[in-house]
Amino acid sequence: MKEKYYITTAIAYTSSKPHIGNTYEAILSDSMARFKRLEGYDVRLQTGTDEHGQKIEEKAQAANKTPKEYVDGVAAQIKSIWDLVGVSYDKFIRTTDEYHEKQVQKIFKKLYEQGDIYKGSYEGWYCTPCESFWTESQLKDGKCPDCGREVKKAHEEAYFFRMSKYADRLMKYYEENPDFIIPVSRKNEMVNNFLKPGLQDLCVSRSSFKWGIPVDFDDKHVVYVWLDALTNYITGLGYDVDGNHDALYNEFWPANVHVVGKDIVRFHTIYWPIFLMALGVPLPKQVYGHGWLLQDGGKMSKSKGNVIYADDLVEYFGKDAVRYYVLTAMPQDNDGLISWESVIETINSDLANVLGNLVSRTIAMSNKYFDGVVEDKGAVEPVDAELKDVATACYKKVQAKMDVWKVSDAMEEILNVFRRANKYIDETMPWALAKDESKKDRLATVLYNLTETISIGLALMQPFMPDTCEKAIGMFGLTLRALKDTETFGLTKNTVVTKTPEILFARIDSAKVMEKVNQMIEERQKANAPKQENKPATHDHSEKPQIEFDDFTKIQLKVALVTACEKVEKSKKLLKLTVKLGEETRTVVSGIALAYTPEQLIGKKLVMVTNLKPAKLCGIVSEGMIICAENDEGKLAFLTPEKDIEDGSQVF
Ligand code: ME8
Ligand code: MG
Repeated sequence: MKEKYYITTAIAYTSSKPHIGNTYEAILSDSMARFKRLEGYDVRLQTGTDEHGQKIEEKAQAANKTPKEYVDGVAAQIKSIWDLVGVSYDKFIRTTDEYHEKQVQKIFKKLYEQGDIYKGSYEGWYCTPCESFWTESQLKDGKCPDCGREVKKAHEEAYFFRMSKYADRLMKYYEENPDFIIPVSRKNEMVNNFLKPGLQDLCVSRSSFKWGIPVDFDDKHVVYVWLDALTNYITGLGYDVDGNHDALYNEFWPANVHVVGKDIVRFHTIYWPIFLMALGVPLPKQVYGHGWLLQDGGKMSKSKGNVIYADDLVEYFGKDAVRYYVLTAMPQDNDGLISWESVIETINSDLANVLGNLVSRTIAMSNKYFDGVVEDKGAVEPVDAELKDVATACYKKVQAKMDVWKVSDAMEEILNVFRRANKYIDETMPWALAKDESKKDRLATVLYNLTETISIGLALMQPFMPDTCEKAIGMFGLTLRALKDTETFGLTKNTVVTKTPEILFARIDSAKVMEKVNQMIEERQKANAPKQENKPATHDHSEKPQIEFDDFTKIQLKVALVTACEKVEKSKKLLKLTVKLGEETRTVVSGIALAYTPEQLIGKKLVMVTNLKPAKLCGIVSEGMIICAENDEGKLAFLTPEKDIEDGSQVF
């Protein structure tokens, strides 16, 4: 029986299309899954989507869709991107899948009945984007300690999980399983920042919005999105609270590894193991917290139009080149960088110059000197030894690196095999051998050694660039060998190479491609940017008759702080603003999208009419009106207090 290997990715939020950073994680996990399959494991790779929560509810509303319609669209998009980059998942779970929702309800109930979850009430601060509660002392400069954004006051009846009860057992698990969290820097962070200071009880229900899995015995509440999302790793295997598990669960749980980004290591190494302990379920063997793929030259931002998406990269460079880039750009324990230029540079240097060139030169010489026939004539020379050593020693090195998730280092080892082979061509100079009839056997042996080395390198590179390796080995008239067979030199029997080799990776003209890319970015910027057109003013600019002072005092004006702002999808003119008026938070829809981007408004203090009857605009209830000056050409300027003054202050 094959040994089982269960590997999972984090499940991606269906709030918007995933960028290349999120996609990296799927490619990384896929590469490990492919490697383990080739090593003979019975592998199960699970990925999927995390579809509940307030943020998604709000996004759906802004798009004038029901939450389910909205997540159906984004989940399909995520799946298609995973397919595009070749993620060989065995299971794609969605947290809106019925079997998952049912188990989450049962889990919540069981934990409540056994006393791990209790009902209490919450008094503190809430960060909507993070969907997290904070106490006064946890805030950083009055803002969310995780994301730095504004928090709002919250007082809610809610369910809590007794985290501290399990803290000692968790610490013991860390100690007995030193590889549970890698890299070790992230483990130290968990111990020092969270476990040592003492765990707080965790709020595991929400009642301020609806888009979640209802607590079935108290349906004012929905289950906290992380309790819902984390359980995907077992519900996707057919886990059942009552013990009627699917066979898959018994075969594959506990997971060998959860692959997650560094920002969510805490959820996977503290909350998740504690939930499992409470359920009496064995803990996963490992959590790998990878770094972030960051955009060279600043954070990716949709409004800047510079977000790098996998599908764009694949369109320009092909799937395997994109996989190669992201995998080699990311070190095991740190962040990596991506830019269009650096992708082109890497393709040219590693894939075109080293790998592509080696393959095409070798095939061309076999065709030219031996009509395509590759045959070992046994004319060995001392210079061959080093080539053979480098090639046959590679698998062990790759294994050692993959064992500790040093994927980019493993790939560097494989590239070194190809580099060594290119050097071997320089050393042996086949074109000179060809001029000397007495060196014919030596020339044949050199070409055989090159073919054999390429065959070894391609077999090892297969998990990372599956299609390229298949295609390349086919051009030699061979198939990819088993990984263990890369430790033996000389297994290839005589073969005939193709007469019509394809170019694996053409050199890219950076200037030409960048011109196209920049054009694309510019178009996206234009599509996102507000247009300040010369159009007639939208308001009545005629002079108004005199009014009584009392008429004026009916209007309540206040200073409002914009804490969040986004475009209303489906509308060119409307922005949806979240504003803070002292203790109060409101939503306002304002027709200023042609004049301001959301970024220009966030953090600004404006003047707002607060006692207008609420009105529904594009499906969103607007609870007030931002006041602006407008000239005859329709140019807009919002009004802001001349010096800083508390939000919520009245304007008279
Ligand atoms: O966190 N580089 O979903 P998500 C590398 N739904 N990895 C990145 C990244 C970047 N620039 N940006 C994000 C969630 N990631 C939750 C997970 S699991 C039970 C629930 C990683 O869509 C991120 O760290 O925000 C996470 O592992 C994954 O992409 C999905 O992120
Ligand atoms: Mg995230």
